[in-house]
Amino acid sequence: MSKMNLDGFFSYCKQIAEHIQLGERMAALSGQGTPKLTSSVGNLYYDSILPYREDAGPQTREFLARVVDVLLDFVQQVNDRNEKILDFKMPADLQKQLDLELRDEPLPLKTLLEDCKVALKYQVKTGHPHFFNQLSCGLDIISLAGEWLTAAANTNMFTYEIAPVFILMENVVLKKMRDMIGWTTGDSILAPGGSISNLYAFLAARHHKFPQYKEKGLSSIPGQLVMFTSDQCHYSVKSCASVCGLGTDYCVVVKSDERGRMLPSELERLVRLHKDKGNVSHHCVYRKLSLSLSLSLSLP
Ligand SMILES: Cc1ncc(COP(=O)(O)O)c(C=O)c1O
Repeated sequence: MSKMNLDGFFSYCKQIAEHIQLGERMAALSGQGTPKLTSSVGNLYYDSILPYREDAGPQTREFLARVVDVLLDFVQQVNDRNEKILDFKMPADLQKQLDLELRDEPLPLKTLLEDCKVALKYQVKTGHPHFFNQLSCGLDIISLAGEWLTAAANTNMFTYEIAPVFILMENVVLKKMRDMIGWTTGDSILAPGGSISNLYAFLAARHHKFPQYKEKGLSSIPGQLVMFTSDQCHYSVKSCASVCGLGTDYCVVVKSDERGRMLPSELERLVRLHKDKGNVSHHCVYRKLSLSLSLSLSLP
């Protein structure tokens, strides 16, 4: 081997380092093994990439690309019938697999990437073909792409000024939903969950029956409000009675049949009972279907 001066030696080391990085990168890109960051990026911290370092576009890109690789591997597993739906561990055992310590010091990007993998490893694969549950079932790839897009947009929906495209989109979606139930006018709101939908349903029913409530509050209601719900209802229905000032005693539970359908005769009996007691005939009838559906109405 010929002799090398110091500059030549450093240049040689640099070449070797670049080859190692390239090898790691190629392995990650070809999907062999789990996605890894090149060491020059993996050892960086959050403050060495965008937005802290304006010149760190390539490093930021590499980090996010490896995170996306982890997510894509997960999507692949979710759709694999040979994969388990859940690698179940008891809480104490799971705790040992996770590093949940809240440190004052940041962690390097390579650790964050590993943590992403571990977090998904122990997740319930709700998109798995053998997973059946009422709220989260199946993973729609186009919707997933939409979620990623909205997360990257990182915006709010409160004004046209802050989210011009999304506000126009929202109008189209809400109009379509109103069309589906046969309404030609009106306004709408998207609900972020089941419990809040039940609360919205309750508020809509109360507003329908007592529109003055908006300005006059409780004094506009001439007596004790009562709501009626199925004995199969979700516990959030009772929470509505609690937070809306009725009290849980005035959330009246109506028996249902063997298929979970509220018994109309029982409902009628309880409505009459409460009317006779002088309670106010505000009724929020709630049905539980296989999909979360809340129906709120005021009976005559
Ligand atoms: C009928 C019904 N209402 C409410 C909820 C609660 O939903 P969330 O956790 O989104 O508030 C559920 C959840 O299973 C539900 O099935």
